[in-house]
Amino acid sequence: MRIFKEKDYDAMSRRAASFIAAQLMLNPRSVLGLATGGTPVGTYKTLISMYQDGDVDFSGITTVNLDEYRGLSGNDVQSYRHFMDEQLFDHINIDKARTFIPDGMATDAEAECAAYDARIDALSGIDLQLLGIGGNGHIGFNEPADSFAAATHRVTLTRSTIDANARFFEDIADVPTEAYTMGIGSIFRARKILLLVSGDSKAQIIRDACTGPVTPALPASILQLHGDVTIIGDEASLHLLG
Ligand code: PGA
Repeated sequence: MRIFKEKDYDAMSRRAASFIAAQLMLNPRSVLGLATGGTPVGTYKTLISMYQDGDVDFSGITTVNLDEYRGLSGNDVQSYRHFMDEQLFDHINIDKARTFIPDGMATDAEAECAAYDARIDALSGIDLQLLGIGGNGHIGFNEPADSFAAATHRVTLTRSTIDANARFFEDIADVPTEAYTMGIGSIFRARKILLLVSGDSKAQIIRDACTGPVTPALPASILQLHGDVTIIGDEASLHLLG
């Protein structure tokens, strides 16, 4: 694992954006795995500025997002499709037909999950997967569990995840209780992984994920076994990692 400790959130975002931009320069047809949540917002903003300055070109890329709430349509302002449009896709020269996110309204959950994995396989996998880490160690919506779920699957969100995500909703009762998420296997098969982490509230969990036992009770710990992981975080989140 390579770890870059930046002084604050903005510096983390700049380094992450330049890392992603470099990936796109090396391979303009990259398949990027993308993430939602508060952590990558600054990275997306920086990528938009780089695009406006003519420094990065998204026209050839394909994206696959980690997850989506079950029961929300892409038109719902709380959906991750809406988040991605608003935070990134609507501001860059990406072909939206090549931006993939699980369909929260799919009536056949199993078929939707199988189709999502087939889509990733058809793209020959993910070149660079961007990740955040949940306060409970989740990646995507792979919540702490007894085993690592390999494939895209439907999950019931834990109370701590619902509490953490309530800040994006008017009322905690509005937070969906289920989601679709790419499995640990799909994430792990990405050729490169870039994990972003910010804030003191994540300091202990990122330390445990990087230095503790590899266990499905802390899903991000699986990244210790991956050959190409870069962690970019701010000082507040990485100060326990030495
Ligand atoms: P956050 O979420 O970026 O909003 O902290 C990270 C996650 O839950 O994966």
